Amino acid sequence: MERAGSGASSPTRLLRLDGTATTLLLIARRTGLPEIAYWGTRLPQTLDAEAVFTLRAPDTPNNGPDNWRPLITVLDTIGQWNFDLPGLLADRPDGTGWTADFQTKSLETSPGALTVHGLDEISGLEVEIIITLSLEDVLCTRQTLTNRGTTPLNVQRFISGNYLLPENAGEFRVAHGSWAREFDFQPVSLTQGGLVIESRRNRSHDHYPAILAGTSSTSQNSGMAYAAHLGWSGSHRIAAERMEDGRLRLSVGEYLYPGEVILAPGETLTAPPAYATCSSEGYAGCARAFQAYARSSIIRWPGGQMKPRPVLLNSWEGNYFDLDERRLMREADAAAELGVERFVLDDGWFGSRRDDTKGLGDWFAALAIFPNGLRPLSDHVHAHGMQFGLWYEPEMANPNSDLYRQHPDWTLHVRGRPMLTSRQQIVIDISRKDVSDYLFAAISKQVTDWRIDYIKWDFNRELIEAADAQGRAAYRKQVLALYALWDRLHEAHPELEIESCASGGGRADWGALAHTQRIWLSDNTSAPSRLRIQNAGWHFVPPEVTGCHISHSPNWMDGLSTTLDYRAAIAIFGHLGVELDPLTLPADESRRLKAWIALHKRLRPVLHSGNAQFADDEPARIIRGVTSRDANTGIYLVAQENWPPSRLPAPVRLPGLARERLYKITVPSPQTIGRHRPSDAQQKLFSDGLILSGAMMSDIGFYLPALQPQSALVLECRAI
Ligand code: DGJ
Repeated sequence: MERAGSGASSPTRLLRLDGTATTLLLIARRTGLPEIAYWGTRLPQTLDAEAVFTLRAPDTPNNGPDNWRPLITVLDTIGQWNFDLPGLLADRPDGTGWTADFQTKSLETSPGALTVHGLDEISGLEVEIIITLSLEDVLCTRQTLTNRGTTPLNVQRFISGNYLLPENAGEFRVAHGSWAREFDFQPVSLTQGGLVIESRRNRSHDHYPAILAGTSSTSQNSGMAYAAHLGWSGSHRIAAERMEDGRLRLSVGEYLYPGEVILAPGETLTAPPAYATCSSEGYAGCARAFQAYARSSIIRWPGGQMKPRPVLLNSWEGNYFDLDERRLMREADAAAELGVERFVLDDGWFGSRRDDTKGLGDWFAALAIFPNGLRPLSDHVHAHGMQFGLWYEPEMANPNSDLYRQHPDWTLHVRGRPMLTSRQQIVIDISRKDVSDYLFAAISKQVTDWRIDYIKWDFNRELIEAADAQGRAAYRKQVLALYALWDRLHEAHPELEIESCASGGGRADWGALAHTQRIWLSDNTSAPSRLRIQNAGWHFVPPEVTGCHISHSPNWMDGLSTTLDYRAAIAIFGHLGVELDPLTLPADESRRLKAWIALHKRLRPVLHSGNAQFADDEPARIIRGVTSRDANTGIYLVAQENWPPSRLPAPVRLPGLARERLYKITVPSPQTIGRHRPSDAQQKLFSDGLILSGAMMSDIGFYLPALQPQSALVLECRAI
């Protein structure tokens, strides 16, 4: 009998990847793929490999496997004592090839990177797995599967990333939701069995493709926290499993529909990239790592560098489908006066689209509204020094459209069955070359002719029974075609920016962000909801790429009335937008809005480059902020959601600034505070500013005047 860690499975090499604060340790063995031995806080530079090998070899169980079962590897398959969720599910037409036992053929290492080649000669499978650990402490895994057999390989699952979590890290936070209620973090404890989260709609309102994990004592700012994210805008699957022996494994990958991936001999499947991070600074630490990595390695800006995010006005909530060229020009005049820098014309400008029942897909100007096309409006907008943006939903059509009447064969649906519409629209198959060429030509010409600086790219329904003309599932093809179309437009128009909208929150993942410059987190623009949605979303994406709009009150969705100051305080941290009709604003609101826009412009260099801060505060209040990377500045939001639990709300504690340094805290204009009997400190805060050290701010804290529910204050801290 082979003893644990001896014989065929004996270790050959200790592999390590280091970030700034974390380490990934892998053990290469004589058989199998490398085992994940450790992922956590950075380990000392010198490690005794033999000691690690010994530590990671448990005893051989009585009444159990005689060949020692490997621990969690970079890709666990069916076979070799893995009874648990496999990362690869595949078989061949004759029913063979369903097990896999990869042998490591080569291991290449360089600082922060590891490439593993694995081959299973019996099943005719080859994998390449590239793992990098960045200085921001983000693991990125890219893997491919190649069919080295002589018959087709039907792949039902090929995950993107496999992670070992400590046994006590079974407290998950899952970003569930639905349209307008996106990013609704729900706690799930995994004590036994599995946790499987699948989103099968090609947009992810139901489950965002990411997950947080921690122990029962992990908080926003302390304890080990873990986060994983799949860079993919299609259907996906996150699976955590408490294995029979107590170990905890997490994987993320695509959700594949039957028949979607059939690899011919020699063909390769590339899985979408998976990202993961861990931090001893709680969930906030993971958020900082993810935001920093998204900035350095995911988002691609025209010209290679982010320009200040232009404050935009989006026409939707102010006009809906009721568009009038002259009125829009007057709105643009009013927007420019407010300080808006980009004017975006939303849905309704094309074909017969006067409501959502017809015309979608007909990408030519509605001549009844824009007799000379969109150029006059665009010129008018540009004359104010603003950019011009235009809404498209290129992957869709109304059945009542010229596009559908001319090309009924372009749709994704199961032929012979009734077509399933949603928001009265159908999905067109953009993976067809003729379709994507058509869309590219139509949009690209308008970008040039109408001087479009920005496209708001919408996607307002899920895919269901998404079969191509041959009847095969086309979910993943559609995502790849979308990425290619976005890239093609960027190549043709290097200054163009694109927003990934998808009814808000439906495509807000890093897959989309690798090809666009903005995501719309939710159609829910009501400030209390946005406060929660942004808070959760910013655990995965940086604020400057998330559209955050100040809209009308009462809000169209929930009817809630809120003050302009409250709505503005919540919105100014992100990529600020105004989504209202500026011509209907009372004069005093216009003045205040203009002042808020000016404040945002002054603060955005910090808000859009700094470190995310999330305080551990009482449940009725949310405190979060951004500190500059040199710790000279901190901008914080204190938002009261409900009545505080006691008459005296807890002191405000602001994390993240340098403990020894002194800061002046002010309440920037146009904020004012209502009638109250201030303490001496509050008097200072609202007049010249309150001076405190970073440690006093984060540990002792200070009392703010009690805030009413649904009110907020923005605090500005500058080192003195
Ligand atoms: C859904 C988007 O999220 C909204 O902002 C708006 O663009 C509508 N679609 C238009 O149909």
